[in-house]
Amino acid sequence: MPAPLAGLLDTAWHRRAALHSALHTTAYRLINRAADGFPDLAVDRYGDALVAHVYSEGAIVAPPMGSLRALAERAGARSVYVKYRPAQANTLDDAARRALAPPAPILGQPVEAVTALENGLRFEIRPGDGLNPGLFLDMREARAWLRSVSAGKTVLNTFAYTCGFGVAALAGGAARALNLDISRRILDWGAHNYTLNGLQPVKTDFVAGDVFDWLRRFARRGQRFDIVILDPPSFSTTRQSRFSVERDMAGLVALAAQVTQPGGWLIAATNQHQLTLRAFRARVTEGLAGVQGRIVRALHEPEIDFPVAAGAQPYLKMLLCQIAPPAPRTTSRRSPQRG
Ligand SMILES: C[S@@+](CC[C@H](N)C(=O)[O-])C[C@H]1O[C@@H](n2cnc3c(N)ncnc32)[C@H](O)[C@@H]1O
Repeated sequence: MPAPLAGLLDTAWHRRAALHSALHTTAYRLINRAADGFPDLAVDRYGDALVAHVYSEGAIVAPPMGSLRALAERAGARSVYVKYRPAQANTLDDAARRALAPPAPILGQPVEAVTALENGLRFEIRPGDGLNPGLFLDMREARAWLRSVSAGKTVLNTFAYTCGFGVAALAGGAARALNLDISRRILDWGAHNYTLNGLQPVKTDFVAGDVFDWLRRFARRGQRFDIVILDPPSFSTTRQSRFSVERDMAGLVALAAQVTQPGGWLIAATNQHQLTLRAFRARVTEGLAGVQGRIVRALHEPEIDFPVAAGAQPYLKMLLCQIAPPAPRTTSRRSPQRG
């Protein structure tokens, strides 16, 4: 391997030293594109399996085998899988998806599943199963935050995927986490993550359906949650709805705000690179107008393994919003009675 590449890999490896030695976390990013000197490559570690994301706008190109081999050796990985990232995933059919996410590794032995750890929580990773292997690593700090505020709360986890937020909430002592996703298969994967963490999956807490449809149903029934998580894909098309973050986020936030308890949290996230933090804030602020909600804080991808390239901005935008508490009851003052 050319010396400059070896130097870049070395620097990237040392930057993450605290993660390499963390006993409770075995899932994190090893290479983060331009910030680590590899503009078209990201590599994630899930225990002893590596997943390399090649940013080729959906073209099948030659992966950087020398760098991947060196990284696998250093990490003691059993296998390396590759995903060729498309510009937009929701329009792909099954055959295209399979071509972009080959089920067999490009290096090492096939691994059907590996259990990865994040802050002591266990998640099943399926490295050869589609474009996303089971856990979005850039949400690590968001899951930790949710865990820290969940005690005794009811949580609605929309666009739940493999229920990472549901697991984090229950680990933090949530009274209930309801996971909602369009894919039953993905929710079953989430239920498996529950069992890996000693949590009992309750059938009614894994709802397969369209988020827009269900938010309206909850609103009609007057059902509310203390914490609502909204982390939609940038684009989504289901039988019932068609969504783009850029166009429809304000409406989605307004719907979700109706099912968030007064005084509760509404969490709005997007990983869309093209949408600036300012533009995303504007959409969320618009959605919150009807409930007098306010954005309290923004979270981004973790700095240690998702460094941001010089001149760029964090791509992950997660806004923690608080809905106005119930108005204090006014006690009507009686005028003193005349004697
Ligand atoms: C970006 S992932 C969400 C990641 C998740 N919040 C996490 O941190 O693990 C998007 C998920 O939304 C689901 N989805 C997309 N459109 C949907 C819709 N209209 N209603 C329900 N789920 C939807 C997909 O099946 C997918 O699991």
